[in-house]
Amino acid sequence: MCGIVGCILKDKEKPVAPILLECVENLDYRGYDSVGIATFDGSIHVKKDKGKIPEVDEKLNLADMPGNFGIAHVRWPSTGVPSKINAHPQLDQAGTIAVVHNGSLKNYDELKGELIADGFKFKSTTDTEVIPHLIRKYMNEGFDLEHAFRKTIERLDGSYAIAVICEEENNKILATRYQSPLKIGVSDDAYFISSDIPAIIDYTRKIILPAEGEMIILDESGVKVHDENGNEIEKETVLIPWTAQMANKGEHPYFMIKEILEQPDAVEFTLDEMDNIRKIVDDLDNIKNICFVACGTSYHASLSGKYLIQHLAKIKTDVVLASEFKYTADTLDEDTLVIFISQSGETLDSMNALRIAKETSPTLAIVNNIGSSMTEEAKYTIITQAGPEKGVAATKTYIAQLTAIYLFAGLLAKDDDLIEELHKVPNYIREVLEKSEEIEVLSKRYSFAEDLFYLGRGFSYPIALEGALKLKEISLIHAEGYASGELKHGPLALINHRVPVIVILPPGSDYEETMVNLEEVKARKAIILSICAEGDGKAECKSRDVFTINPNVSEMVAPLVYTVPLQLLAYYVTLEKGHDPDKPENLAKVITV
Ligand code: G6P
Repeated sequence: MCGIVGCILKDKEKPVAPILLECVENLDYRGYDSVGIATFDGSIHVKKDKGKIPEVDEKLNLADMPGNFGIAHVRWPSTGVPSKINAHPQLDQAGTIAVVHNGSLKNYDELKGELIADGFKFKSTTDTEVIPHLIRKYMNEGFDLEHAFRKTIERLDGSYAIAVICEEENNKILATRYQSPLKIGVSDDAYFISSDIPAIIDYTRKIILPAEGEMIILDESGVKVHDENGNEIEKETVLIPWTAQMANKGEHPYFMIKEILEQPDAVEFTLDEMDNIRKIVDDLDNIKNICFVACGTSYHASLSGKYLIQHLAKIKTDVVLASEFKYTADTLDEDTLVIFISQSGETLDSMNALRIAKETSPTLAIVNNIGSSMTEEAKYTIITQAGPEKGVAATKTYIAQLTAIYLFAGLLAKDDDLIEELHKVPNYIREVLEKSEEIEVLSKRYSFAEDLFYLGRGFSYPIALEGALKLKEISLIHAEGYASGELKHGPLALINHRVPVIVILPPGSDYEETMVNLEEVKARKAIILSICAEGDGKAECKSRDVFTINPNVSEMVAPLVYTVPLQLLAYYVTLEKGHDPDKPENLAKVITV
């Protein structure tokens, strides 16, 4: 998704452009196709183009711009093709107002028509360009920048985080948000606004979280936040427990492998949330049903939650894709807890569902990003402690989500054995990571594939889905996760000697039935890789390859451990195929449209 940044340095002599460039580089995991910066030093300077940041930087030397304040943008197009003209900042006709925008405007056509009738000339095909023209229109009518911006916002229908600079009021950055994320950063030398905390974490951990509709004014003397009526309001500054080092690759070639290796810590730190989770569970005494809502990888974590809660707590549990939620909403009531799972806490489909659900039901958001929109809207919040995740393919946030869900379920069902078992998970994961070279070798044997199937049953079904999703999103190989008993109802027709099938085979009550399904694909000459317990002679004898896990990992906690070799497999196959595992084609980490 688009990302926006703004920065004003207290030192007037210091150029802001290198800092803005570094900040937008730190937002690149949101997915983008163009980049742009506007700075001010007596007049507005703009550099922008289509392309990845290094290409555009090489062409335009983005860090070489004068002025101690400015705004910057990485663009993922929602309206208007990727092009230099459509890149942000978007300007008014005279180039005296510059705007960066994350979000999308539903009524831009109507506003554009009105502005064209008033004589304004448009250059781009973006929705955003209406914003600088509207601000100019209201300034022409005699309003100052803040009032003109406020009147502009009142006209917009859609989602937005917007930052503006203007030549006439040349000492400030104005910004606001509605249904799109925006944070304020405060350091000793500078003030920031940013779509995401990792963009500015190198400069500050002191963050202010503006609410929707609030107006942010940054100038050299500080940060002011005004309410919808223009009255100044006091905002709390929070210290984010993330560090710059956590958001950097360090010695690792890619974020994805760094984040996979951080998973034992992600589990340990999330287990420390037990007391908070217990308070929430104690407060939810009367819950009769649970409904999980999520997208992507978070949906798979939710599915594990359904299996676990139904098994342990005997509470009827549904899982709904956030984009399909409205078809379920009518069945909610006050006895149904609706749990939103999201690493970003910003996904628009989930946010829309949360806004509907909270009308009737208690809501709980399990998110990784502190201060994200879902934490504002949900009644209860659990923060997973995975730290910042920058690889587009979720790994450590997924394992942290599972940890939080398992803790929640264990406390709900008062199952001390599960809680004890969870504390062993970091070491089980470490054992897998110590054998990652085995997966690297296996990846060379599987990267030829054009289609792969992942099979699992019961608790292992979500593992199969997540393994397949990881592989397809980063390696671009077609992969499908299937409930192993369902294979015979269709996909079995596709199994032959060219198709690898990865079978998730933890020890437990589902083992024998899954083994039957393994036999079915073996009979069709599939190339079988089993993920199974150490010493599982049967799996070893029936599979071409095996990757083994500590036999003490039960099928119930298998999602937290058996997923890890599949993440590694996706990573190494992707490298083998020459793709960048951190930035898969056409995907973004935070989907706010
Ligand atoms: C995007 C990301 C996925 C993620 C999904 C849901 O599609 O690429 O990795 O699983 O959004 O995101 P959330 O932040 O709500 O977990």
